[in-house]
Amino acid sequence: MKTILITGCSSGYGLETARYFVSRQWNVIATMRAPREDILPRSENLRVLPLDVTSDASIARAIEAAGPIDALVNNAGIGVVGAFEATPMPHIRKVFDTNTFGVMAMTQAVIPQMRERRSGVIVNVTSSATLAPMPLAAAYTASKQAIEGFTGSLAHELGHFDIRVKLVEPGYAPTTSFPQNTSVRVEDLIPAAYAAFAAPIFEAFAQPALTTREIDVAEAIWRAVHDGAGHLRFPAGADAVALSQAA
Ligand SMILES: NC(=O)c1ccc[n+]([C@@H]2O[C@H](COP(=O)([O-])OP(=O)(O)OC[C@H]3O[C@@H](n4cnc5c(N)ncnc54)[C@H](OP(=O)(O)O)[C@@H]3O)[C@@H](O)[C@H]2O)c1
Repeated sequence: MKTILITGCSSGYGLETARYFVSRQWNVIATMRAPREDILPRSENLRVLPLDVTSDASIARAIEAAGPIDALVNNAGIGVVGAFEATPMPHIRKVFDTNTFGVMAMTQAVIPQMRERRSGVIVNVTSSATLAPMPLAAAYTASKQAIEGFTGSLAHELGHFDIRVKLVEPGYAPTTSFPQNTSVRVEDLIPAAYAAFAAPIFEAFAQPALTTREIDVAEAIWRAVHDGAGHLRFPAGADAVALSQAA
């Protein structure tokens, strides 16, 4: 039985992915900043561990407690929507600490054991925002686009050790906790000078033609983990798939 460690399992895509792999006979280490057992099914194959991907000490403790890991899914992330001019630099750094440096730190933490075993897969969850530039998402897109480049390059050197590295690019899900999981309010990031520009964009955001479901992301992560054909990118959700085909 193989073991997968997933970051950011308290809600949304990470929670669904943990459920998905548990139901398919994987050992799942579901990590959360504030661990909760009650949101996942009871299973001998499931462990919940505390993990904050912005803390080196927390990462070291989680990796030590986890034992051998066959698959790492870097899913934890936070968003920021608003005019770039009005987005405080401390918040931009926080977004990069989680979405970019958190992914890199987790990846460095699992490489040695995977390299020694000459096996393993690392899946980095980015966003469909990397497939086509979206307005009012400059800092967030930058944090995810960095991981797109990082992953493509890393796949070459880790491929030398039979470690696979993949990207899952989810589209927009109106149903996850993503909009609430931010310490800055969108309204505070739209100065008056941007109001006329932002209004039609927020109207369009409110009525998306296509969206992504949590299960779409869990299935794409499953395909990425099991891919033996050397694919790098796995768009997830109808909107992301449409964007990737247009790109
Ligand atoms: N929803 C969308 O529309 C969308 C679209 C494209 C890509 N994505 C990406 O998909 C991933 C999952 O998002 P989601 O929609 O499922 O949002 P979500 O419901 O807010 O889940 C994000 C998870 O990340 C965790 N997290 C945040 N900061 C963390 C940290 N420092 N250390 C560890 N965990 C942390 C959150 O845990 P806490 O409960 O502790 O805050 C939460 O469990 C993210 O990387 C996001 O950027 C989302």
